[in-house]
Amino acid sequence: MSSGNTPDTYVRTADDPNDEDWWKEAVIYQIYPKSFNDTDGDGVGDIPGIRQKVDYLDDLGIDAVWLSPVYQSPQADNGYDISDYRAIDDQYGDLEDFEELLAELHDRDIRLLMDLVVNHTSDEHEWFQRSRRGEEPYDDYYYWREGDPDQPPNNWDSIFGGSAWSYDDERQAWYLHLFDEKQPDLNWRNPAVREDVYEMVRWWLDRGIDGFRLDAVNLLSKAEGLPDGDPTDRITGQEHFFNGPEIHTYLGELHDRTVERYDAVTVAEMGGITHEDALEYCGEDGDGVDMVFQFLWDGLGGDDDPEWEPMDWTLPELASIVTDWQTGLAGEAWVAPVLENHDQPRSVSWWGSEEYRRASATMLGTFLLTMRGTPFVYQGEELGMTNVEFDSLDELGDPSTKQRVENAIADGDIGGFEDARTVINLESRDHGRTPMQWTDGTNAGFTDGDPWLKVNEDYTEINVDRQRDDPASTLTYYRELIDLRHENDVLVYGDFALHYPDHESVLAYTRTLGDDRALIVLNWADDPTTVAAPDGVAIDDFELALANHRTAPATPGERLALDPWEARVYLA
Ligand code: NOJ
Repeated sequence: MSSGNTPDTYVRTADDPNDEDWWKEAVIYQIYPKSFNDTDGDGVGDIPGIRQKVDYLDDLGIDAVWLSPVYQSPQADNGYDISDYRAIDDQYGDLEDFEELLAELHDRDIRLLMDLVVNHTSDEHEWFQRSRRGEEPYDDYYYWREGDPDQPPNNWDSIFGGSAWSYDDERQAWYLHLFDEKQPDLNWRNPAVREDVYEMVRWWLDRGIDGFRLDAVNLLSKAEGLPDGDPTDRITGQEHFFNGPEIHTYLGELHDRTVERYDAVTVAEMGGITHEDALEYCGEDGDGVDMVFQFLWDGLGGDDDPEWEPMDWTLPELASIVTDWQTGLAGEAWVAPVLENHDQPRSVSWWGSEEYRRASATMLGTFLLTMRGTPFVYQGEELGMTNVEFDSLDELGDPSTKQRVENAIADGDIGGFEDARTVINLESRDHGRTPMQWTDGTNAGFTDGDPWLKVNEDYTEINVDRQRDDPASTLTYYRELIDLRHENDVLVYGDFALHYPDHESVLAYTRTLGDDRALIVLNWADDPTTVAAPDGVAIDDFELALANHRTAPATPGERLALDPWEARVYLA
């Protein structure tokens, strides 16, 4: 965040995590434009479609939108492969549409965060095209290695599966891609690359946007000499490109040269990090990153878990991870709790229970919105949208799931789709990408054309129209949760203390800010249960502020009898 320096005298000053800021008190809503709302009938969402829904966002009560990439892109990875950072992809509209959207959001005091994807570009980006031809100064903009076309330069895996190297016939050399082969990694060691990136970032900030979500940003620095990685790791080479040697230099510089000069906020997507790593990025001596996503699933399960079986996890494990993040960063750094995004399955289907859909969706919402940090709500999460059932590989849109399955079949790890079906239908990124469900009409009101990814069959049940005015709906409950958070700073800034660390189904915690307290009790199970009031909590002081079951008593009492997936928030 800006420390009030003029552009010429900028100095990185760590943001005091105890200071109040709009973005700490905000609830941020992620829009995946491809699947949000289509106005031109091509089956793909667009910016005019988002403009049509600005009132919906306002009504929900969110404070900011994070917009997944809308830049020009061949869409090999749904826009995370950018071929022109300064242009809007035709399928989404143009810069004028974008500017109108920004103005309309700002009119309603809703801020806009863009996605900043600078670990890699598309192979169709001009920089790569010129690099592949060896044109200066672009020749060294990517990681190129000459050598035997049959022998990649090292044993690194791509995060999407297969080798992280592809051979380019034109340049007659290998290039590195930690994701898809159409997403070559930028060479951040080259100062000219960094200059070009900073200039582009400032170009967007000059347009008046309010910040960025930083994509895969702990991958920017690769170990000197690109050495072989440990072949027993799930992603070979990961020790050489996650949190690499120069990462803090690059992120500090990015901050100082761009967002520091504006009043812009950053939230970092960093896979595979611990809460201790997070401190190095956004703690007091960190790089100026304002907050980092708290990906609770990252700590669950182990490297040895069988790849094609659903992850086995327990609530005490989750409770321990959430406590690490919530207490380990308190007073030191800011986090962004998240349960869903476009890379995750739907939380009801993965964390909750489709059988108790409304109860588990609202319980999960209570969890998300009562943690310390800035919660991110993903489109459709506020409706309790669920996973779909895929019956073949052809129905999938996500290149990473497809590649993983195809590689596993080629390696003989699985026989075919059927062996992967359970895991795909539980965990594929496509579940989060099915079209937003607005109505019970054709294609859930998402498009008049053929949707690019299938609409979940449950849209006649789960849609905005049906939930908007229903006092018992998940959507209404989300509005209430967002209001509750806005009205109670204890839910934003309060310290977090866990109760019942070993309980198999009850997750409960107290938040404390000065004299204000909140007690949150969640029953994470299909069965009812009863617990004694937590030790050391003056329960008589507490009154019910919100619950997802009508029967919740007004005070906690000595014993809490909880229904399946019940959630209660008490305040004192
Ligand atoms: C993280 C994004 O969230 C994901 O969708 C994308 O595939 C990778 N980064 C590569 O950009």
